[in-house]
Amino acid sequence: MMALSETHLREKAAQYGQSHLFRFWDGLSSSERAGLLDSLSQVDFALMDTLIKSWVLHEPAPEHFSRIEPVNVIPPVDENSDRTALDAGEQALRDGRVATFVVAGGQGTRLGFDSPKGAYPIGPITGKSLFHYHAEKIHNLQRRYETVIPWYVMVSPTNDGQTRDYFRQEQYFGLRPDNILFVRQRVVPCVDATGKYILEGPGQPAVSPNGHGGSIQALVDGGAIKHAESRGIDVLCYFQVDNWAVKVADPWFIGYHCLANAAMSSKCHRRNDLREAVGVHCLCDGVYRVIEYSELDLYPQLLERDATGAPRYFAGNPAIHILSTGFVKYLNDHFDAFPWHKAHKKIPFVNEQGALIKPDAPNGYKFETFVFDALRFVPHPPVALEIRRPGEYTPIKQYEGVNSVVAARQSMADYWGKWLEKAGCSIPRAASGACCVPIEISPAFALTEEEFIAKARGRTLVIGDGVAVDAAGECIHPPPRR
Ligand code: UTP
Repeated sequence: MMALSETHLREKAAQYGQSHLFRFWDGLSSSERAGLLDSLSQVDFALMDTLIKSWVLHEPAPEHFSRIEPVNVIPPVDENSDRTALDAGEQALRDGRVATFVVAGGQGTRLGFDSPKGAYPIGPITGKSLFHYHAEKIHNLQRRYETVIPWYVMVSPTNDGQTRDYFRQEQYFGLRPDNILFVRQRVVPCVDATGKYILEGPGQPAVSPNGHGGSIQALVDGGAIKHAESRGIDVLCYFQVDNWAVKVADPWFIGYHCLANAAMSSKCHRRNDLREAVGVHCLCDGVYRVIEYSELDLYPQLLERDATGAPRYFAGNPAIHILSTGFVKYLNDHFDAFPWHKAHKKIPFVNEQGALIKPDAPNGYKFETFVFDALRFVPHPPVALEIRRPGEYTPIKQYEGVNSVVAARQSMADYWGKWLEKAGCSIPRAASGACCVPIEISPAFALTEEEFIAKARGRTLVIGDGVAVDAAGECIHPPPRR
């Protein structure tokens, strides 16, 4: 987008009470001035005005629902499940109707990693990154279904260059570069408690990515929907980059989605406890919604237990969805109706003298949209498929603790450990049953237990202080004896 003129932007800023954005103009170099004009040209001042008036200057009243009900879910897939869904999903993959879509534009603040979160070396032995793991899953599916599964990667203006450089440096993990498309999400200014945009540098408004809901516009703006349609793709499998275990294009899930001719489908998992930090799938006055965990106290029913003591509204949101391309276009055309959310955050700013201040307490607001809000626009009740967490859901938000790198590595060791045991290996386990050594099995080699057992037959797998199996099924750790 071409930068708008100084005069035009000064007028706009004045019209919306944001003239302070030009406070340091006289002292800016020509490139800093160009940078400021460029940043402000991207801003939707009218939208920001609405957000500020309805979210910052007034506290919006919480939405009221007369009736909240649990959603109907399809139970987790097991050996007794009707294979019609699997057949339909496999057929869609073979027919080339499927693309994967990862959102990787977040700031990853809690993890505190310098590079894009997807480049995090999650493999405890190999150091393979999250992106690398997801790419290996795509390799496996492409080989298995003799198909091409394009990969759309949503980045933000902040990590776009770094992410592309990383993919280039890793030679696209062996995938064809023309099957990978980066789409860039938009950013929105951060504002203070009085609704003024915050400056984080004399010529630089503080901005933040517009949330994973921004993926709707990014898919259209970035050409992914055109790309998909030109290849006859109508199924977009959405996942988040920090879920190491995710099944990136699960044939069962695709099958349920296709058989229902759904606009959008979601996976759910049982909430561990009532206060678990996950959104809750439910029907609010008949409309499918995900209620954020921060809002649970507004809707006390969501904190009820059933007769067994488990959460009655059990369907937690692991952020795994399928969207049809037509539905993404519909949402994009109606994006004005998409809800926004605000977050109170510490946002570095420059004071009157132009010095950078890093606040100790939240001093401003970031605005975001959430992809799960698309569910409320779905014409028919969406397909909701329950999953068990091991081997599907290991979100990584921080290094240690709940939803962490450490917890994800343990969960995968326990999960893959079972495969190895079924293949005849003996795995050291603690009294609790937890696996005591790190384990990595390349998803390019095996995506499922059955595939692993079939392929591992006749191979020597040595469990030392851990084990890593590569894409060819070679045990690369402990190193093979030559
Ligand atoms: P989170 O909300 O957990 O944020 O994003 P985050 O950036 O990973 O981490 P924190 O909150 O700053 O610590 C969940 C997923 O949504 C993506 C993230 O990249 C992650 O895959 N996301 C989030 C975006 O792509 N864009 C956004 O604007 C926000």
